[in-house]
Amino acid sequence: MQSFPAFFPLDGRRVAIIGEGWQADAKARLFDPAPAMVTRFSAPPKAEELKGFALAFVATEDAGERLAAVEAARVAGVPVNVVDQPALSDFYTPAIIDRGELVVGVSTSGAAPTLARDLRTRIEAIIPSAYATLAGFARSIRARVLASRGDFESRRRAWEEILRGGAGERALAGDLDGAQALADRVLANETVAAGVVHLVGAGPGDPDLLTLRALRLLSDADIVFHDRLVDPRILDMIRRDAERVFVGKAKGDHAVPQRDIEALMIAEARKGRRVVRLKGGDPFIFGRGGEELEALRAAGVEAHVVPGITAALGCAAEAGVPLTHRDHAQAVTFVTGHAKHGDEPDLDWNALAREKHTLVVYMGVETAPKVAARLIEAGRAASTPALVIENGTTPRVKRVQGTLATLAARIVEEGVSGPAILIIGEVAALAEVATRLEEAAA
Ligand SMILES: C[S@@+](CC[C@H](N)C(=O)[O-])C[C@H]1O[C@@H](n2cnc3c(N)ncnc32)[C@H](O)[C@@H]1O
Repeated sequence: MQSFPAFFPLDGRRVAIIGEGWQADAKARLFDPAPAMVTRFSAPPKAEELKGFALAFVATEDAGERLAAVEAARVAGVPVNVVDQPALSDFYTPAIIDRGELVVGVSTSGAAPTLARDLRTRIEAIIPSAYATLAGFARSIRARVLASRGDFESRRRAWEEILRGGAGERALAGDLDGAQALADRVLANETVAAGVVHLVGAGPGDPDLLTLRALRLLSDADIVFHDRLVDPRILDMIRRDAERVFVGKAKGDHAVPQRDIEALMIAEARKGRRVVRLKGGDPFIFGRGGEELEALRAAGVEAHVVPGITAALGCAAEAGVPLTHRDHAQAVTFVTGHAKHGDEPDLDWNALAREKHTLVVYMGVETAPKVAARLIEAGRAASTPALVIENGTTPRVKRVQGTLATLAARIVEEGVSGPAILIIGEVAALAEVATRLEEAAA
């Protein structure tokens, strides 16, 4: 260890910034959200002027001024940092992640600040901003935890139960009253079997499209129920010792019936476990997330929904197809092509056949011939561009272009079996442009 990380309390402390220009401004900005009192000096102050300061930063181009400022700080006994001059500094300024009470500093001991900043960006991505609320909540109950638990070991256990259990979850969700109530029960030695279920959208495939919240919940879960459509690279992000239960549903082949999935989640939450129900795309778009949420709430189980990028948005973005466009589409509709009864979906074809309107059909590979025929019958031009995207945002992606007239035949020719979406409308032709641009760039 080349340098020792330590944290200076800022509440009511004075910080000196010596120098002018953007570097001095940048140092001053570090303290914008802090309770410190910042004093700016345009020229080196005298040692007496620095007495009582907690920290001093020197950011001046002039070497003579720099040395004078360092000298003054040393005489005044104030630790000093000189921008870009580690040899003159008593301490280094780390790359900082500021979450209120929770502060993370990354330092390369002055060797390569850019490396520290890159690392900060990565760490920042895994520490949600809600941690500031969690840390503030921890501070608010600190005195009570100390008072109610005599020894270090039982305090540690109480903190774990509060912060990793339901109270922590509620604080992260911004429900401080709920968090407080659960923490009270832990401190009163009541058993708190307050499990929770998160219905989490895994996006269409590419793990980079997961939300930060989904990532955090996967690395925190006790048990994960997942679907067939969740990409294996996303399953790799689940906490190693979490239990995984495949409840996948292939078309017409319900591995675990819906009611059983709901009952399993309820039973696990009632044991006090952190349950994640991981679903492809977004849980509320053709994902039965609504039914699951209703069942959980009816059973009195705490449940939250984490949105995911739905297949239409992920696949269209990847293909360079804007689903709405000033010139080509003033609206977009997502429909299911699944035929609940008979061999065609029960949809309002007249409404869907409107021009300058994009239609995205989920689960529509099998019923594509009927969908195309009904739209043409209802007045949509047979020449309307159509695009099929199979396994979008995964390495197995396949895109097939055609028109409403050729859609069904193209699906058969290209051997598309799904999962795939159909994009029907003028914007579908723009995929060709995007592909040509990609090819030209390659
Ligand atoms: C039961 S629905 C679930 C939709 C999901 N909740 C969502 O928001 O994307 C399954 C259908 O979503 C579409 N789908 C899901 N992932 C896809 C992908 N990577 N590429 C193309 N279509 C996909 C297909 O139409 C598939 O049949």
